[in-house]
Amino acid sequence: MAELFESTEINGLRLENRLVRSATWEGMADDDGSVTPRLIRIQEELAEGGVGLIISSYMYVCPEGKQNIGQIAVHDDRFVSGLETISEAVHERGGRIVGQIVHCGGQSDPRVSGLPTVAPSAVESPGYRNLPAALSEDRIQEITEAFVLAAVRLKRAGFDGVQLHGAHGYLLSQFLSPLRNQRTDRYGGSLENRARFGVEVYSAIRMAVGDDFPVMIKLNSNDFLEGSTTEKDSTYLAKLLAEAGIDSIEVSGGTPGSGPLGAARPDIISTEAEAYFFPQARILHEAVPSVPLMLVGGIRSLGKIEEILVQGVVEYFSMSRPLIREPSLPKRWKEGDTHRAECKSCLGCFRPARKGEGIRCVRKGEQ
Ligand SMILES: Cc1cc2nc3c(=O)[nH]c(=O)nc-3n(C[C@H](O)[C@H](O)[C@H](O)COP(=O)(O)O)c2cc1C
Repeated sequence: MAELFESTEINGLRLENRLVRSATWEGMADDDGSVTPRLIRIQEELAEGGVGLIISSYMYVCPEGKQNIGQIAVHDDRFVSGLETISEAVHERGGRIVGQIVHCGGQSDPRVSGLPTVAPSAVESPGYRNLPAALSEDRIQEITEAFVLAAVRLKRAGFDGVQLHGAHGYLLSQFLSPLRNQRTDRYGGSLENRARFGVEVYSAIRMAVGDDFPVMIKLNSNDFLEGSTTEKDSTYLAKLLAEAGIDSIEVSGGTPGSGPLGAARPDIISTEAEAYFFPQARILHEAVPSVPLMLVGGIRSLGKIEEILVQGVVEYFSMSRPLIREPSLPKRWKEGDTHRAECKSCLGCFRPARKGEGIRCVRKGEQ
């Protein structure tokens, strides 16, 4: 029977346990996206805290695809040496780190990037006030290449793999969404066409990094937006990615416009409220049984993890907010202090980061 604290492998990458730090924007990079000492310290604390795999915050692959202040850049070779300091610091502490790569598309912020916003179609993203310009086919090819170059840079920088950000309404999920992709060329219309960009980006990365470098995706199972992506779309893309050799899928959902059904839901105070994307993970597992799934969203207790693990649907358990408050939660659980994560799921961790101070638990110390 699978156990939480056992060693496993994803395409040759050995992980000491099944706990994952889900990608978390720290808001601590320099204005140009360079790595800072504070960013390195956060990853060190996570590695020291015993999480099996760290997934970095979302790193932008093109300058116009930047969304947030303090976001990490990976769009140029000059960032490689800074990124290397992160992977080295993690490896020295026995940790593993995968870099998440993103183009935020219509959810990029021109006030932050200084550049006009682009998206599959000139359709506003729910919750955003920018009307993006529709991408030309040539520009789609250039962005695909930017994803490839970003993945190659992360490999050079000593990262243990890459994760495509195909969730939360960013560019990859914009292409899949019938609401936000209204193109009439080979990238829009039918489900086959809407899935094309994700498959092409994945396949081009795979060609460039080789078969033995882990390439994963965080995928929205459902956007929880009227007329947008549902399990019908996400399972279709997941099957194509599985056939093409994806190494793992992290199951998420929601977008910033999805209200209470967003990716990071508030008030996870009961066991029943935990693991809110598990129903979607079940559907994805049925579609792609051979792909190891990571489950994110409201995971807070060992009891819930164990209840899910025995069902054989999910192999890894990903957390974001709990590890902001308690980076050493995995170690605490392993050492026998099994009380649930102290995170209050209040989303207060975003507030200091939006002011440029970086993420922090604003309720630390409260029971
Ligand atoms: C401060 C903060 C930053 C986040 N940044 C990212 C990110 O960079 N990439 C990503 O895929 N998800 C990001 N997320 C979403 C989380 O990875 C995760 O999917 C969500 O918070 C639900 O998990 P949780 O209940 O364990 O927090 C962020 C969440 C928070 C709270």
